[in-house]
Amino acid sequence: MIRTAKPEELDALIEIIRITFEKVSIDKSIEDHFGQLTGMPWIDRKAADIRRDLAQNPQGVFVKVVDEKIAGFITTAIDRDFSTGRIPHLAVLPEYQGKGIGKELLHYALQYIKASGMKLMRIEVLAHNKGAFKLYREFGFEEVSAQLHLAMPVSKYKSL
Ligand SMILES: CC(C)(COP(=O)(O)OP(=O)(O)OC[C@H]1O[C@@H](n2cnc3c(N)ncnc32)[C@H](O)[C@@H]1OP(=O)(O)O)[C@@H](O)C(=O)NCCC(=O)NCCS
Repeated sequence: MIRTAKPEELDALIEIIRITFEKVSIDKSIEDHFGQLTGMPWIDRKAADIRRDLAQNPQGVFVKVVDEKIAGFITTAIDRDFSTGRIPHLAVLPEYQGKGIGKELLHYALQYIKASGMKLMRIEVLAHNKGAFKLYREFGFEEVSAQLHLAMPVSKYKSL
């Protein structure tokens, strides 16, 4: 069953991100390169992102429930000014992956975006995340641009 997430499920969603996003988080990559420069672990930053998704569009966060457990979830953001629906986060717990749940969640979210009257759907994916990229391509998403993420400790900056 897929249903709208409940506000009190925030911690469960963050835990799913902790388990699934280690290899696909830009903040985790920065932490691996430079350590915890900001004093905050990558998951805290990600947790703030999920909290923001829930706060800004609570009716657009959907969970897949299997045997009364949240197996995965997806968040959406609706930008009416630019008639665009975004998918900021999609995650399925490893033990439930490869069973079609990611596909099901994506269909659910895209139907919601369509029903919201948007004209465009957008998703960002890291280049090495081949599984997610394949999934999006199968849905019809097209690659329009690629981006590199650069970072540097402020202490390394040589000022004039
Ligand atoms: C990406 C993710 C949500 C897919 O969830 P899932 O439930 O395993 O996906 P499904 O079982 O519905 O698979 C759907 C399609 O995704 C693609 N896919 C998913 N995982 C894949 C993998 N590891 N390798 C190759 N293709 C993969 C396939 O095209 C698959 O379709 P197919 O089975 O017809 O070939 C899940 O792997 C995940 O949570 N990953 C970590 C977090 C993440 O990367 N999120 C997306 C950030 S942009």
